[in-house]
Amino acid sequence: MLIFKLQSYLEAIASDASLYEKGNFEKRSEAIDFIGFGVIDQIDEYLLETTSPTLLQLRQHAEKVRSALEETDQQLFQHIQSNIRQGGYSGTAFKALITKYVDFNVHDPISQEEVGYDNLDVLINGLSLFQTMPEQTKDLEPEMVYYQKTPARIVFELVEKSFIRQEDVFFDIGAGLGQVAILVNLLTGIPTKGIEFEPAFCDYARDCAASLNLSDVNFSNVDAREADYSEGTIFFMFTPFHGEILQAVLEILRQESLQRKIKIITYGPCTAQVALQNWLQAAAPAENNAYKLGIFSSF
Ligand SMILES: C[S@@+](CC[C@H](N)C(=O)[O-])C[C@H]1O[C@@H](n2cnc3c(N)ncnc32)[C@H](O)[C@@H]1O
Repeated sequence: MLIFKLQSYLEAIASDASLYEKGNFEKRSEAIDFIGFGVIDQIDEYLLETTSPTLLQLRQHAEKVRSALEETDQQLFQHIQSNIRQGGYSGTAFKALITKYVDFNVHDPISQEEVGYDNLDVLINGLSLFQTMPEQTKDLEPEMVYYQKTPARIVFELVEKSFIRQEDVFFDIGAGLGQVAILVNLLTGIPTKGIEFEPAFCDYARDCAASLNLSDVNFSNVDAREADYSEGTIFFMFTPFHGEILQAVLEILRQESLQRKIKIITYGPCTAQVALQNWLQAAAPAENNAYKLGIFSSF
């Protein structure tokens, strides 16, 4: 009975031609998830109790159907990458391209109590030619925070809410694999810079930017306490560190703010410490939710 049910689900997916059209990215993502969780995981559970050649065959078939769908995704990613590389898509054109494939509205109030990823992340992750996470080569100090990616939806929201001007220069402090700096450049056209402590992450981020021909996206492999911020006007932090390191970097930014007005945008638990700085004003009343963007500007 179970085999019959899973088989018919799988056949319905395999024979749905619309799933193999590049444009149907969200529908395809749902089908890929369903094959993983609804079919393969179920088969694996049954295979723990019984050895059935038919179930094993069905599992292989499910893997094959999933690979074919993933192959269509790869074609879509290559199509978007090649458009970016040729310089055809930046600013509103890039946003329009992405919203063609993923239906979302940055103004939708989604209440997040933790970091959450969705189909937009799958699409944006696909823009990177390098899919294997590099190994960390340096130990972090106790107050430094391990790599975790800012959800792509949050980066779109950041661009929407921070009133970016063409003369702005954006810094991602603790840039990880570079996705925030790359996306902000694609969405706005302004120069972006990433500061990252881990050399392997920095190399990866540079390779990604180079593979997309983004010459205005640069990364420095340096401790945030030693970085040169003299060109920056907007500084983003997805909690790269806390405690004394955060305070030391905020003091450097305060010094920069004596030269020009700056904005600091935060995500994650560091927002609470940034909100305490008396040289910054919050753009919106502070909310008691670390996973909402904090937007601050110097006086
Ligand atoms: C939570 S991740 C954020 C990554 C990236 N900003 C993003 O949102 O996708 C924090 C990053 O900060 C880096 N980091 C931690 N301490 C640092 C320091 N003192 N200087 C520069 N980078 C640091 C970590 O290696 C890690 O990649």
